[in-house]
Amino acid sequence: MSNWPDWLPLRSALTGLTPYGAPQIHDVVQLNTNENPFELPESLVSEMVAALEKNMRTLNRYPDRDAVGLRTGLAQYINELSGTSFQSNNIWAANGSNEILQTLMLAMGERGALGFLPSYSVHPLIAQVTQTPWSSGTRRADFSLDTDSAVAQIAAIAPGLTFITTPNNPTGSAITIEEIARLAQAASDVSGLLIVDEAYAEFSPEISAVTLLDRYTNIVVVRTMSKAFAFAGARVGYLVARPEIIDACLVTRLPYHLSTQTQTIAEVALKNSEILLAGVRQLIAERARVTGELEKSGLHVLPSAANFLMFSGMKQSPSALWKGLVERGILIRDIGIEGYLRVSIGTPAENDQFLAEMALLTS
Ligand SMILES: Cc1ncc(COP(=O)(O)O)c(C=O)c1O
Repeated sequence: MSNWPDWLPLRSALTGLTPYGAPQIHDVVQLNTNENPFELPESLVSEMVAALEKNMRTLNRYPDRDAVGLRTGLAQYINELSGTSFQSNNIWAANGSNEILQTLMLAMGERGALGFLPSYSVHPLIAQVTQTPWSSGTRRADFSLDTDSAVAQIAAIAPGLTFITTPNNPTGSAITIEEIARLAQAASDVSGLLIVDEAYAEFSPEISAVTLLDRYTNIVVVRTMSKAFAFAGARVGYLVARPEIIDACLVTRLPYHLSTQTQTIAEVALKNSEILLAGVRQLIAERARVTGELEKSGLHVLPSAANFLMFSGMKQSPSALWKGLVERGILIRDIGIEGYLRVSIGTPAENDQFLAEMALLTS
C-alpha cells in the first residue's frame, strides 16, 4: 500500500507492506492453505467441550503463563515420535508457529536472518516487520537445496538466524538429516542458530531435526499442530530447543499470550494424537494418487514430502488456470512463481473434484 495518510505515524519499514493473506473464499473446495481437510471426530469434539466447560469458571484468572501441561504433552509427543527425551523446558508453545517465528526474530534477529528462496513467504515478511535484516539465499533452478552452496552462503553472510523449511513450502521437497547437520554446523561456525521449520514433518519420511539437538545445540525446531493434527483453527505452534533459547523467547513474548481455551483443547488433542494423526496416512496415499493423475495428464509435479503439490506444464498461465478453477468452485494457490501453481491435498472426494476440473481445463 503506498497511499498511507500523512498523519499516520507508521514505521517507515512498514510502508511498502500489505497484510499477509491467502484469499478466504467460502463455498469452494479449499485447497489453498495446506490445511488438513478432515474435520475432528465427534468423540473428540465432545471431550474438548467437556474440558472447556470445566475450565470456563476460572476464566476470571489469567491462563497458566508457562503452559506447563501443554508443553509436557508436546514433549511426550515429540519423544514418542523421535525416541528423544525432552522435558517441558525444551518446548515452548505459542499461537501458531507464526508466533514462534516472530518471537525468535524479535528476540534474536539483530544480526540478520537468511532463508533459501523460494520458501515460506512469511519468514522474510516477519523479518521486515520485526526489522530483522533479511538475506535471500538461493536454491538450484529446480528449487532443490544445494547443501554445499547453502553452507557457503551461510559462511559468507554470517547471519544470526538461518531458516530452513523441510519439507519446504511451496516446493514440497525435504532434505535429509545429514544435510540439516551440515547446515547446523555452518550456522554454528558463524555463531548463529539454525531454525528448522518442520510445519509439515509428519507427512515426510525424513527424520526430524529434533534428533540432532544433542549434537548441535544451535538448532531450533519449529513445528505446528495446524497441519498433521488438523488443528489450524486452534492456533498452536511450538518449538523444540535448548532452554536458554526459550528463556530468550520469554523476554519478547506477551504475558499470558496463550489462552486457557487454547491450552485446554490442545492438551485434549495431544492425548488423542493417534486419532487426529490417522488422517496423515490417508493424505500421503492421496498425495501419490493426485501426483500420478496430474502426471498422466502431462503436467510436471515436483516430488513432495508434504500435504501439497507444486506443479507446472499447463498450457495457460497459472493465473488463468487459477481463475478458471475458482469459477468452478476450486480454490488452489497462485504462489507467484512463474509457470507454477500449488494445490493442497484434500479429502478423496475433493481431490476427485480438483482432478476432474483440471482435466477439463488443461486438456
Ligand atoms: C512452512 C510453514 N511454517 C509455518 C506455518 C505457520 O503455521 P501456523 O502458524 O498455523 O502454525 C506455515 C503455514 O502454512 C508453513 O507453511
